[in-house]
Amino acid sequence: MSENKTPIIIGSDHAGYPLKEKIKEHIIETGIEIEDAGTYAQDSVDYPDFGIKVAHAVSIGKFKRGILLCGTGIGMSMVSNRFPHVRAALCNDLFSTIMSRRHNNSNILVMGGRIIGEALAMEIVKLWLETPFDGERHQLRIEKFDGINNIGICGSSFKKTL
Ligand code: RB5
Repeated sequence: MSENKTPIIIGSDHAGYPLKEKIKEHIIETGIEIEDAGTYAQDSVDYPDFGIKVAHAVSIGKFKRGILLCGTGIGMSMVSNRFPHVRAALCNDLFSTIMSRRHNNSNILVMGGRIIGEALAMEIVKLWLETPFDGERHQLRIEKFDGINNIGICGSSFKKTL
C-alpha cells in the first residue's frame, strides 16, 4: 500500500500517555511529521482539554489527521465528535480500524490505553495510516452529517476553551 506522509497531531490524557509516547516513536520512525498536543506526563489531567486541542486542529484543517488516547477511548470520542468535520473513530480492534477508513473516512483515530496493549496499538495505527477511503456511496453518507455542528453550540463554545 502507498505511504501517506500527511502530518499528524496526537494527544492523550494521563491514562493514554504511555501508549501515546510509544505511538509517537513509531510514527517518527516512519518519517511522518507529528505534533504532540500533550499531555506530557503521567499526572492526572482532564481528557477534554487534550481532546479539544486535537479535534479543533483537525476541524479547522490545520491537520488532516489526528490520534487521541484516553483510558477507554470513550471520553476522547465524545469530545472530538462534537467538532465540525471531525470523524473520530474509536478503534480498539483491527476490523473497526479498516472499516473506519474505508467506509467512514475517519480523520481521528481514538484508542483506549487501558484496553489495548502496545503491539495491537501499533498494528491499528499502521492499518489506519495505510487504508484508503472507498468513497462513492460512503462519501454521500458522510455528506449527510459532516459539518452538522456548524450551526450548533460547538462553534461558539470551543473558542472560549482554547
Ligand atoms: C481517566 O481516569 C479516564 O476516565 C479517561 O482516561 C477516559 O477513559 C475517559 O473516557
